[in-house]
Formats: sequence, structure tokens, C-alpha cells
Amino acid sequence: MPRCGKRSRPVSNVVLNVEPDPVSTEVLDGIAIVAIANPPVNALSHAVRAGLDTALACIEQDDTIRAVVIYGRDRTFIAGADIREFGKPPQAPLLPDVINRIEACDKPVVAALHGTALGGGLEVAMGAHYRIAVPSARFGLPEVTLGILPGAGGTQRLPRLTGVRVALDLITSGRQVDAEEGLRMGLIDRIAAPTDPVENAEPSAAARAAGLDFARDLIAADARPRRTRDIDLADGSDETSGVFAEFRAKMASKSRGQLAPQNCISAVEGAVNLPFAEGLSNERILFQELMNSDQRGALIHAFFAEREVAKLPEIKGVSARELARLGVIGGGTMGAGIAVAALLAGLDVTLIERDAGAVSRAQASVARILQGSVKRGKLSEGAYNTLMAGSFRASSDYGSLSAADMVIEAVFESMDVKKDVFTRLDAICKPGTVLATNTSYLDINQIAAMTARPEHVIGLHFFSPAHVMRLLEVVVAEKTAPEVTATGFALAKRLKKIAVRAGVCDGFIGNRILSHYRKAVDGAVLAGASPFAVDRALVEFGLAMGPFAVSDLAGLDIGWATRKRLAPTRDPRETYAAFADRLCEAGHFGRKTGMGFYIYDADGTRPNDEVLDHVARDRMAKGMTPREISDQDIVDRYMAAMVNEAARVVEEGIALRPLDVDVTLLNGYGFPRWRGGPMHYADTVGLDKILADIERFAREDDFLWQPAPLLKRLVAEGKTFADLNAA
Ligand code: CAA
Ligand code: NAI
Repeated sequence: MPRCGKRSRPVSNVVLNVEPDPVSTEVLDGIAIVAIANPPVNALSHAVRAGLDTALACIEQDDTIRAVVIYGRDRTFIAGADIREFGKPPQAPLLPDVINRIEACDKPVVAALHGTALGGGLEVAMGAHYRIAVPSARFGLPEVTLGILPGAGGTQRLPRLTGVRVALDLITSGRQVDAEEGLRMGLIDRIAAPTDPVENAEPSAAARAAGLDFARDLIAADARPRRTRDIDLADGSDETSGVFAEFRAKMASKSRGQLAPQNCISAVEGAVNLPFAEGLSNERILFQELMNSDQRGALIHAFFAEREVAKLPEIKGVSARELARLGVIGGGTMGAGIAVAALLAGLDVTLIERDAGAVSRAQASVARILQGSVKRGKLSEGAYNTLMAGSFRASSDYGSLSAADMVIEAVFESMDVKKDVFTRLDAICKPGTVLATNTSYLDINQIAAMTARPEHVIGLHFFSPAHVMRLLEVVVAEKTAPEVTATGFALAKRLKKIAVRAGVCDGFIGNRILSHYRKAVDGAVLAGASPFAVDRALVEFGLAMGPFAVSDLAGLDIGWATRKRLAPTRDPRETYAAFADRLCEAGHFGRKTGMGFYIYDADGTRPNDEVLDHVARDRMAKGMTPREISDQDIVDRYMAAMVNEAARVVEEGIALRPLDVDVTLLNGYGFPRWRGGPMHYADTVGLDKILADIERFAREDDFLWQPAPLLKRLVAEGKTFADLNAA
């Protein structure tokens, strides 16, 4: 029996259930108002599910209640299941049962939505009989991004509300829709009138008020419960025929290797082909299969790791500096992209180039990228004009940076040029300006030493294209002050990027690991694989692009310049793969010259067989006899090299924890998210297996394959990288 509070008067404003937290019910004019309060995002923890279940049980028993409103306190309706409970033994009541109970209620139930109604939260709303939302509310079923599917009836109820095609789109993409779109697609019934934000200082007040209004209207109209489960869904006929095959094919290519999108489609198919209750059972089976998969573990690791990276002890309680005016030096590939990212985030941007010609080229680049946003409908023509005429200016006069709050340098990758730029900035910028460099590899301590204020100097390493890529490595130099680091993180947040703290070394976290695994794949080629086989095997493993195709895209000249820079200090024991240099010497820099490892022309993209001759000559010069290298061997080499160097990066403190490496590789290097990042992957396959691979490859090249001490120690102690994350 539920413990329902006693009410002295039938229609009064009292709390019904005994334990008000985290679900409480008050009754007003015969309307039970159920409030969910489980900060920060009202996730459906066990306590919330139990609270909702009890609230509904009490409401069912109370004849004086004529309608019900469910809403979320504070910043949002319910943002979904409590992800922290995943992987633990489920505790009753289970969410599908709670939602079935809401749907079965014999009084009309209104879900009043604000903030983000996501996942299980939207499923609760679809279990309610009516839905109203404040204008700013957003909805979505993001489960697929966590490697699961909406497992509390979402795959059965959404197609009944919106039709099969829309439901498949939302469920397989995980995308959010706003209130207008939600109304158009039949997901919600009403959008509440906009309210005065001052009067409604508590963000949920407007939702509560809108829900009450809707409930009063329903009572006045003597409306009955309207259950989503009862909506007839046309089976296997014209509307749905072909749509499942179409989505299966689309997801097989877009989400290659992933289980969840395909199970999502099967679950929606069940909504069409099976009676509701059987559809729910089918959904449950498909959900459990995903819940037990490594992919779910990997995607949820990625979700939490991306939130953990911002939690740095050194900036806890430290305020970031104010950031309104940004200077960018250099308007090439990176400078133009950084300027656009900053403009779109509302910053005022001054870009400095070398001379008038470079200024107008930079101006044109910024305009072209922003026009791309206009074409894609992301930016209005009016907003474009305001940005270009008001917030952005380009000049060759360094003096115009005197008032900048932060300057980001993105000039050529040359220590001399960078030193000259920082000497000038030191002379011009006001005290307190954050002086940042976007260098990919250079020593930021040396750059900082050119100024009288090294504590204000930091690395902000963006990725190309800078207005698109989500990663920002915040490189903390020896003397960087904590508030400067905090300002780097604040900038990332403002630009909607994910910041990872890195220490100074050649290549920081990402590029340092990259140069190591590049050597391993070059080694695989020298041993017998073709670059094309390497790319194919790694794309099959889940990478967006193979490493040789990536080099072509970035420009082979970049790696060539780095190799030449490092040549004087290269250890003579290193096996130096020279085949890429031969391409560069012939003027083939990859995509931009139409030829590199691949040929790019009007006929499309295809392997450049000339590469095989360069490789053969390189092997011959080294006295190497090629042998068969399997796809698995290629993947093992790639992963072992990545994990080994990453272990060194963690041990040296360049990355704070293994999870910082995972977030870097996931967001800057196309590592498949559903594998969780290299360190999570290593834990999944076993660190002993990675170490054994390294020792196996060391028999071929014991200079390249030296096991990292941290890896050896973890294996000896039977520990994992996850143990270090938790420490
Ligand atoms: N469960 C547990 N914790 C959650 C959570 C969830 N569903 N959603 C967010 N949190 C936590 C975050 O980890 C974070 O915690 P810390 O402060 O300790 O780091 C805190 O809530 C705030 O989250 P954000 O920093 O992400 O805040 P935001 O304002 O930027 O974004 C949000 C808010 C849009 C809700 C975002 O957190 C989000 O997308 N959450 C996940 C939503 C989701 O995927 N829901 C589906 C869950 S699966 C499901 O529901 C399955 C089912 O069918 C039963
Ligand atoms: P780029 O060659 O496209 O652009 C450099 C620009 O700097 C040129 O337009 C040049 O005219 C300008 N410049 C040179 N000296 C200058 C000076 N003294 N004052 C003002 N402007 C000057 O180079 P890119 O690719 O944009 O790289 C810039 C920096 O960003 C480099 O340090 C590079 O290592 C780094 N980087 C590059 C990435 C990439 O993928 N291209 C990724 C991340 C970082």
C-alpha cells in the first residue's frame, strides 16, 4: 500500500505523499501537481521512479482529484534515466512500469515541459495523456548516443504520435527538436504563451503554470485520458513500406559498426508489426542486448569523461578573466577558423595579418566561412552583416590589439616568427591580457620567455577546421597562472568546445601520440602492408578516415616539415620510413595538389600506385623482405602504439588522467566514440594483451616498441586505466 498523506479538506493546497523528496504532490483546485526535484537534471533515479509510482498510486485512490500535472523543478523537466545507475542491478519499480502506470491513470495527466525533456524524460511525457511546453523547451531521445535505445516505451509511443519516419529520424539520430518542431510533428499538444522572465524567476514556474492552465481546460471540457498506446499505427502498408530498409542502409553507412541504431530500427518496426504490449516486450529485449554491450560501456564512459575533463583541482574556485575582445594573429587556415568560432560565440574579434594583401585574404576567408553558415541556414543574412560590419575587423596594425582581453597567435609554425610576435604583443597589450599560442608542437615555455609576463602565456591548441572541431587543448606552461588556465577553459565553454588540459612537450597530448602511432603504421607498411590496406583495416575498426588519407587531407608538407625539424635530433636507432618524403619531393602534398597517397581528380579518389614503388624502394634500402600483415595485426599495432605512448603521456603528467587522453582522441582525431577512446579500449581488451602485443612487435623493432613503465606497472598490479581515473 502506498503511504499517502492525509488531507483534511478534499480540495486544498496540501502535500499528499509523506516523503516530499524528490517527488512531491500538492493539490490545487482538484488538480494534483506532481513536482520532480532531483538536481541537477531531474534524472530518473530509483528514488524518483519510486516517488512517481507512489504519487500515481495515491492519486488513483483519491476521488477528489480530477486531473494531474507532472513537471520538473528548477532548470529542466526530466533529462532521462539516471545514467550512473546503468550497469548496476535494476531496482523496481522499473521505468517502463512507472510510465505504464501514468498512462493507465483514469484521470487526465498533463506533462508540462521546460528545459530539456530527454530520453526517459520524454518517455514519461509520452506516457502522459497531454503535453504542453514552454516556448524554450527542447525534446529528444538521445539514447542512441549512449549505445542504447529508448527502453521505456519510447520506440512504441513516438511513432504513434509522430508517424514512423519522424520517429525513426529522432530515435536513430538522437537529435533534439524545439517546441515549434515538436508541435508540428505531433509530439506535444500546445506551446504555452511566453511569460515574463522576471515574474517567473524560478525557471520551472512557467511550466507549472502552463500545466495547470491546460489541466483546468481539460476539466472544463470534461476531457478523458487520451492514451498514446491506443493510437492506431498503420501496419506494413504504404506509409511504412521501405522506410525500415532505407533507415537500416542509412545507419549502416553513417554509424558503421554500431549496434544501437540497428536495434532502434528493429524496435520501431515492432511498434508497427506487433500489438502494443508485445512491442514493449520486444523493445525490452533489444534494450537489454544493448545494455549488456561493450559499446554502451564505451559511450557512457565518453559521456562522463567529457564532463570530468573540466574538473581541474588547479582552477577550482578560480575566476576566469573577463573575455569580450579577442585578437587573432594570422588569418590562414587556423586564424580564420578561430576568428569565426569566436564571432559566432559573440566575441568582438580583431585579426592581424602581415600586410594589406594578407589582410584582405584573411577577411575573405572569414567571410567565406560565415557565408557557409548562412547557406546552411545556421546564420541569418542580417546576423552575418552585423558580424562582418560590427564585431569583426582585420588589420596589419598590431597597435589595434592594445585593448584586447585575449590574443591568440596562429602564425607560421616557426619558433622565430612566434618569438617575434610575442615580443610585439608584450609591448602592446594591456596588463592582464591572456597571450595564447595555437602552436602544434613548439615549446610554449620558450615562447612565454619572450615576454615579461610568462604567467599570462598559455597554449590554446585548436583543431582544423577550428570553427567545427570540438577539441581545444589548453596547454599549461611552467609559469601559466591558474586564472589564465581558467580563462582558457571558460573560452572553450563559450565556443561550445571541450577543453582538455595538457602539459608542454613536443605535440602535447594528441599530436605527440599521433606521431607515435604514425610511426607504427609506417612500420606496418615497411613490414609488408600497403598504406591502402592500413587505411582500410583502420576504417573497418571504426576510424572516420585511415591515417594515410588523413595525411593527404592535412597536407603531406606539414609532417614533412616536422620530420625535417626533428632530423638533427633523431635517434640513429629509429627506423625512419622515407616513402612519404619521396612523395613530397615530387611535389605531391596530398589533396591540395591533387595527389598524395591517393589521387584526387574528376574521377574521384583512388589509390596512387606510385606510392607502392616508393615503399618497395624504401624496404629494399633497409634490406626488409615484405610479408603478409593481417588486418588484425594492423589494428593491434595501431592501438598498441597509441596506448603505449598515451601511458607515457599520463605518467609524465602531460595528460592528467587516462580519460583526458580518451577525450582528446575522441574529439580531435576521429577515434570511434563507441570504442570509448584508446585507454577505455585498452581496459576492454586487457592491458596484458596490449603489453604482450608491444613485446611481440618489439622483436621486429625494439627501439619503436619499448613498453611504457606505467603500462608494465598496471599489468603487474592487475590494475586498469579506469583505476587511475577513479584515483
Ligand atoms: N543521469 C545522471 N547524471 C546526469 C544525466 C543523467 N541522465 N544527465 C546529466 N547528468 C549530470 C552530468 O553528469 C553533470 O554532472 P556533474 O555536474 O557531476 O559533472 C550534471 O548532470 C550536469 O550535466 P551537464 O554538465 O551535461 O549540463 P548541461 O546543462 O550542459 O546539459 C543535459 C544538460 C542536456 C541534460 C545534458 O546533461 C545531457 O544531455 N544529459 C544526458 C541526457 C540523456 O542522454 N538522457 C537519456 C538517458 S538514457 C535513458 O533515458 C534511457 C531510457 O530510455 C530509460
Ligand atoms: P597558415 O600558413 O594557413 O597561416 C598562417 C598565417 O599567418 C598566414 O596567413 C600568414 O600570412 C600569417 N602570418 C605569418 N607571420 C605573421 C605575422 N608576423 N603577423 C601576422 N600574421 C602572420 O598556417 P595554419 O595552418 O593556420 O597554422 C597556424 C598555426 O596553427 C601554426 O602554428 C600551426 O602549427 C597551428 N595549427 C595548425 C593546424 C592545422 O591543421 N593547419 C592545427 C592546429 C594548429
